[in-house]
Amino acid sequence: MKLPVKQIILAPMEGVLDPLMRDLMTSINPFDLCITEFVRVVDALLPKQVFYRLCPELYHHGITNAGTPIRLQLLGQDANWIAENAVRAIELGSHGIDLNFGCPAKTVNKSKGGAILLKSPETIYKIVANVRNSLEKSQQVSVKIRLGFNDTSLLNEVVDAIEQANADLLTIHARTKKQGYQPPAYWHLIGNLQQRHSIEMVANGEIWSADDALTCMKQARTNNIMLGRGVLALPNLAAVIKQQALPMSWQKLCFLLKQYCELELQGDKSFYFSSRLKQWLRYLKLQYPQANQLFTSIKTLKSKQEIVKIIDQLT
Ligand SMILES: Cc1cc2nc3c(=O)[nH]c(=O)nc-3n(C[C@H](O)[C@H](O)[C@H](O)COP(=O)(O)O)c2cc1C
Repeated sequence: MKLPVKQIILAPMEGVLDPLMRDLMTSINPFDLCITEFVRVVDALLPKQVFYRLCPELYHHGITNAGTPIRLQLLGQDANWIAENAVRAIELGSHGIDLNFGCPAKTVNKSKGGAILLKSPETIYKIVANVRNSLEKSQQVSVKIRLGFNDTSLLNEVVDAIEQANADLLTIHARTKKQGYQPPAYWHLIGNLQQRHSIEMVANGEIWSADDALTCMKQARTNNIMLGRGVLALPNLAAVIKQQALPMSWQKLCFLLKQYCELELQGDKSFYFSSRLKQWLRYLKLQYPQANQLFTSIKTLKSKQEIVKIIDQLT
């Protein structure tokens, strides 16, 4: 059955969905947009190098090799500095700006960034309005939130603030900060918001299959979804949802893993190769029993060569 999906966005995932993974994932999926890992803004205009390091696609018009546009995500609490950095990101080639008000990390929340701002709709309004007013209308300003910090009591006020500040798109990870990553995701609460708000919304959280995507879109009353961990567990999930592709076979996945190893070892994070591969396998284990066996056989290996040899044998 063809799902009525409009946009599928690749989620920002710090330390996981980096440029290499974005490249790989957009090469096999019809993503409409990728959001980068967050750039932390404190009290300065960041050097261009910070943006290029996190998003080398900026050297190539802000698109992946497959042509999918990338949007930089900013996180912070100072409306003026965030706007200054937003202008710089756009000048460098980011396709719009995404603002993070959902990060649960203690260090970030302590310095009043990320999800803690869900307690302060006025601050959210100031940041979004400042960014919106600093950019041309043609540049989308999107915002990513959770349902609240400890509870959902301020959710309507937060969404009002974002709407009044004229943001273009709102992604909601359908859980509070307190709920962490504990299933379920409360997609219907996004649906409830649609009754009193007109901003275009994107539903996010716990979409692991085409069935989940359908249920999520129905409950959240939107045709826009964002995929994070689901696409790490089933690497062609967006193609399964949007193009009715078959879930990637284990055999094909082995070739993808081989490609990943080659790229990772050429890249600047090759030092972390084995831990990054193991991190990905932890997600793949959720969909492929064979990934569990592979994980067990490389778990204790430290040498990159030994690991690559085992992956090579699979293909
Ligand atoms: C390891 C990890 C890193 C993340 N980093 C970010 C981030 O940098 N910015 C952000 O807005 N959300 C971040 N998130 C949240 C995801 O974008 C997403 O909202 C969450 O994982 C729920 O979606 P999912 O169930 O599809 O994974 C992160 C999540 C994880 C698990």
